[in-house]
Amino acid sequence: MSFRLRRASVDDLDAVMAIETSVFVNDAWSREGMAHELASRDGFYLVAVPDVDDTRIVGYSGLMVLPGAPDADVQTIAVLPEARRVGLGRALMGQMIAEARRRGVRDVFLEVRADNPGAQSLYESLGFEGIAVRPRYYMPDGVDAVVMRLQVPATTTELAGTAAASATAVTETSESEQLP
Ligand SMILES: CC(C)(COP(=O)(O)OP(=O)(O)OC[C@H]1O[C@@H](n2cnc3c(N)ncnc32)[C@H](O)[C@@H]1OP(=O)(O)O)[C@@H](O)C(=O)NCCC(=O)NCCS
Repeated sequence: MSFRLRRASVDDLDAVMAIETSVFVNDAWSREGMAHELASRDGFYLVAVPDVDDTRIVGYSGLMVLPGAPDADVQTIAVLPEARRVGLGRALMGQMIAEARRRGVRDVFLEVRADNPGAQSLYESLGFEGIAVRPRYYMPDGVDAVVMRLQVPATTTELAGTAAASATAVTETSESEQLP
């Protein structure tokens, strides 16, 4: 099956929340919080959908950039278990980084659970570095958060792996991208 990325809207709230609550459980965004994120002009949310069904969301990610701010935050990223390890997470993150660059951001930050080596591996492969630990940040589990930072590369060609191609594709097509 092939997928593409498209901009998310508040119309996608139900589908996004279904994944958010099933994947993150205790750490999930509230429905109200996510609705605000999807509606915000400062946000940039993408969803991954099969080519054949624009409404069947299998993953998403979001970036928040306050106007004129030198930094941005990756707010969330998730891919359904059955759609993992085919490059969607990398493609979504590539788009987050590309959008940060388009908005003139120098640094992108994110927080990841210390017990989530898979996500950390993805971020490290894109150039993120751990810069701090927030002890027992994720409650009630009492799991530390690792704060990671990416100094935004000046050009798409400096992005690691397939994210470079993804970023270029979306820059050219503006809203969507085909994925194998
Ligand atoms: C993290 C997540 C978004 C990755 O999505 P994905 O579509 O599977 O990622 P990709 O297929 O693009 O993987 C890219 C690379 O990341 C690394 N990676 C991703 N998942 C991994 C895992 N479980 N274990 C080890 N490395 C992993 C690998 O280097 C991988 O490259 P490879 O498949 O060529 O080895 C997905 O696992 C997920 O939704 N997890 C649950 C939610 C979550 O943890 N979100 C992050 C919160 S900070």
